[in-house]
Amino acid sequence: MCGIVGILGSQPVAHDLIDALRRLEYRGYDSAGIATVENGHLERRRAEGKLRNLEQRIGEDPLKGKTGIGHTRWATHGKPTETNAHPHMSEKVSVVHNGIIENFRSLREELTAKGHVFDSDTDTEAVVHLITEELSRADDPIEAVSEALQKLEGAFALGIVFAGHDDLMIAARRGSPLAIGHGDDAMYLGSDAIALAPFTNKITYLEEGDMAVLTRKGAEIFDAEGEKVERPAVISQASSLLVDKGNHRHFMAKEIHEQPEVISHTLSHYIDMAEGRVDYPDLGLDLSDLSRITISACGTAYYAGLVGKYWIEKYARVPVEIDVASELRYREAPLPKDGLALFISQSGETADTLAVLRYCKEQGQRIASIVNVRTSTIARESDVILPTLAGPEIGVASTKAFTCQLAALAGLTLLIGRARGTISPELEQELVQGLLEVPRHMAEVMADEAQYEKLAHDLSKARDVLYLGRGINYPLALEGALKLKEISYIHAEGYAAGELKHGPIALIDENVPVIVVAPSDDLHDKTVSNVQEVAARGGKIILISNGDEDSAGCELMAHIRVPDAHPFTNPLLYAVPIQLIAYHTAVQMGTDVDQPRNLAKSVTVE
Ligand code: M6R
Repeated sequence: MCGIVGILGSQPVAHDLIDALRRLEYRGYDSAGIATVENGHLERRRAEGKLRNLEQRIGEDPLKGKTGIGHTRWATHGKPTETNAHPHMSEKVSVVHNGIIENFRSLREELTAKGHVFDSDTDTEAVVHLITEELSRADDPIEAVSEALQKLEGAFALGIVFAGHDDLMIAARRGSPLAIGHGDDAMYLGSDAIALAPFTNKITYLEEGDMAVLTRKGAEIFDAEGEKVERPAVISQASSLLVDKGNHRHFMAKEIHEQPEVISHTLSHYIDMAEGRVDYPDLGLDLSDLSRITISACGTAYYAGLVGKYWIEKYARVPVEIDVASELRYREAPLPKDGLALFISQSGETADTLAVLRYCKEQGQRIASIVNVRTSTIARESDVILPTLAGPEIGVASTKAFTCQLAALAGLTLLIGRARGTISPELEQELVQGLLEVPRHMAEVMADEAQYEKLAHDLSKARDVLYLGRGINYPLALEGALKLKEISYIHAEGYAAGELKHGPIALIDENVPVIVVAPSDDLHDKTVSNVQEVAARGGKIILISNGDEDSAGCELMAHIRVPDAHPFTNPLLYAVPIQLIAYHTAVQMGTDVDQPRNLAKSVTVE
């Protein structure tokens, strides 16, 4: 969480720092701030809330320094106030930080006893005073930071500038990602390459434990042991044009509507169109002999994994263990010898998912990951990357990344099924054909958006909403509820339809809309029985199905019709209506759709 940037430039850098921070707002937007070195002094501007507040503040009271750092915050320690906003600073040093300093309390006590006065409630301020203390011993910034780093516990990425040093910035990475950008007589620092895309595409990724000393001429990098090391510079594909909503009111709307295109891209990456069969990178395992697959992820990516479990178990007949990463990381789960561990992450930086990946690696598992950001830490620490080609996803609510994850999982299912002989060449061709029709079907689902606006008008009056689904539609019910609550703030829960009578049915009355994901598959009739149980208790049913309106056998509040498709591809298709329901309800409620409260796009803390 939190985004950090730094620039050593030849002109005042405040404007470019803001530009870079805008690309990092997905990492948090509780507050933002910038500090620059001006005539040897440190100057800063900070503002609570979104970046535009900081922009306004700087417009009124400009910063002129040509060396500066910036930060956009997702609060961990201390309320999202201006006082707690980064950069934090003393007279000598200014710091931006992403991550958590775990021993900040003891450092704070120690430094307070030595006369340091803390202004904020943050863990970051301990770093400022620690470096300041070290500087008072030896007036050498590199030595002071090296000493300070040894006293810090936790996960962090830091950007540091110093009073009296116009041509110096120090960066350090332990646990949180950090990239260095190389310009012409200018150097850059950012939480990711996207932040730096307008300035340079020549990027060096810092590795775990690295400290980098930047001047306008370049960077010297030292590893965790203090040894000078060379890290390669790579040419990043990150686009500087990503902050563009096109004709849409929100990024989320744009990203929902991009799905037919990005699903095509993702499928074409894995499907040999001429042969009508999947074509995956070598996973380095004998897939015909897999005893179990372990999948782990968080949030929406976890629900994609849950769909993957239903697919892989049904079509490839391999048992799949799946758990949310925040649980699996501490369960000390026994893993099969030479097993396959699969991680799913849009950002590729989610702290819990990364921790499980490292655990599985220690346990001798082969690591494959489905990621959207190919340069991310999860991607770089995996044996095999299965990329999703969703393009940058800016809306905090995941939409196109989810369906692209499903597309990659669908292909993987066919690959494993083929290797194990559970999917014949004819069936593979049939399922591939079904997948290739998904983009067209998705476009059809989006054609009548007015029905979602109408439905949103009614849903926005509800206090609670239930989502139901059976079998492979159950993860869709969970995802539908997550999407609705995260952007509309309406309380929503997803249930396996068969579980309803074991408790949740007590919630049903005429004020609780129940959204049912019920394609005409082999479990459809059982789901319809559950729908009737709800209707009998006065519940208002919204049916999402490819059947007729009267197939539910009761009166409906609304019926969203989805085109007939191969049942294998239903999860991809039914994802779209649940996204549009959440989107239009949030718009109706007037919430901040792209940046909902308390959330961040990339969750790099535990
Ligand atoms: O970047 P990741 O896919 O690893 O992120 C995982 C979750 O944080 C993410 O899917 C989250 O649940 C979304 N806000 C859901 O829309």
